[in-house]
Amino acid sequence: MLADIDALKAEIEDAVEAAPDLGRLEQLRVELLGKKGRVTELVKGVSSLPPEERPKAGQAFNQLKRQIEEVLAERRTALADEALHARLLAERIDVTLPARPRAEGRIHPVSQVTDELTAIFADMGFAVAEGPDIENDFHNFTALNFPPEHPARDMHDTFFLEAEENGRPLLLRTHTSTIQVRHMMANKPPYRIIAPGRTYRCDSDATHTPMFHQVEGLVIDRRTHMGHLKGCLIDFVRAYFERDDITARFRPSFFPFTEPSAEMDIGCRRTKEEIVVGEGSDWLEILGCGMVHPNVLRAVGLDPAEWQGFAFGMGIDRIAMLKYGMPDLRPFFEADLAWLRHYGFVPLDLPTTFGGLTR
Ligand code: PHE
Repeated sequence: MLADIDALKAEIEDAVEAAPDLGRLEQLRVELLGKKGRVTELVKGVSSLPPEERPKAGQAFNQLKRQIEEVLAERRTALADEALHARLLAERIDVTLPARPRAEGRIHPVSQVTDELTAIFADMGFAVAEGPDIENDFHNFTALNFPPEHPARDMHDTFFLEAEENGRPLLLRTHTSTIQVRHMMANKPPYRIIAPGRTYRCDSDATHTPMFHQVEGLVIDRRTHMGHLKGCLIDFVRAYFERDDITARFRPSFFPFTEPSAEMDIGCRRTKEEIVVGEGSDWLEILGCGMVHPNVLRAVGLDPAEWQGFAFGMGIDRIAMLKYGMPDLRPFFEADLAWLRHYGFVPLDLPTTFGGLTR
């Protein structure tokens, strides 16, 4: 009997080693060391041996029992480790992955600046209005108090189309002031809108392209006056250029659709290479504005004795160039990837007045 003990031990060790999981291992333990287990039976059998064999046999079986407990415990730990390892592998996440895939494209400066100025004017209670690029003479000129055959119509270097409406050629709008007219004719006062959009003039050099962008502003109610115009536009330029110390002046000017009319200049420092806004003692023209002319109000069916207010028009590309330091306007519209990568903005960083216009 004792002679077989080594063979038995080797057999048990193999079985334990081969147990594929904790369930099978527990089954083995019961088979060997349980109440009716093989080894338990051996230990029990010691009492039926001749007395002189008992001490040796008892010692040997107890040792076997301890050794089996040990290999079982070892195998249990090994299986638990394996299970943990498998689980860790299965649940692995790569924490070095960026939270979002890196955006490939860039936001064009014109879109960025449009979003920035929309955020600023939205904070002041302005809504956004739109109108078509293809216009007629009425919305672009007549309703805006350009007299027929007036030289101011030529001033705009209008692109006329071959298509006609009521015997008159259609045209590409030369300014966003058309949207003032459309908005006032389609809605009841008071108004407080901005209208960004594309505009067209037959003109081309480093700072002029045949297509460019403007934003129109219009505020009409019963009491709005020139003081509101100034306050609104000074607040705007300070928010837009992100400097509270920007100085401004309003110079008398002429537009058929405003009276009085003004051009707004902001303080700047001009060197050969650059223009720095908010410093120095030079002035830079930035927009046209004025009190909406009574004839414009009449043209859209409002009584100028009851309604009044201001309008302004500003070049979006121009204020983009000033803020972000682009020297030439033409590459804006050349779809040059190198230029876009350099001057473009990262998508998803939406400009807000509370989170920052630019990050
Ligand atoms: N429409 C004018 C332009 O294109 C700008 C402007 C708009 C001026 C509104 C006064 C009021 O030059």
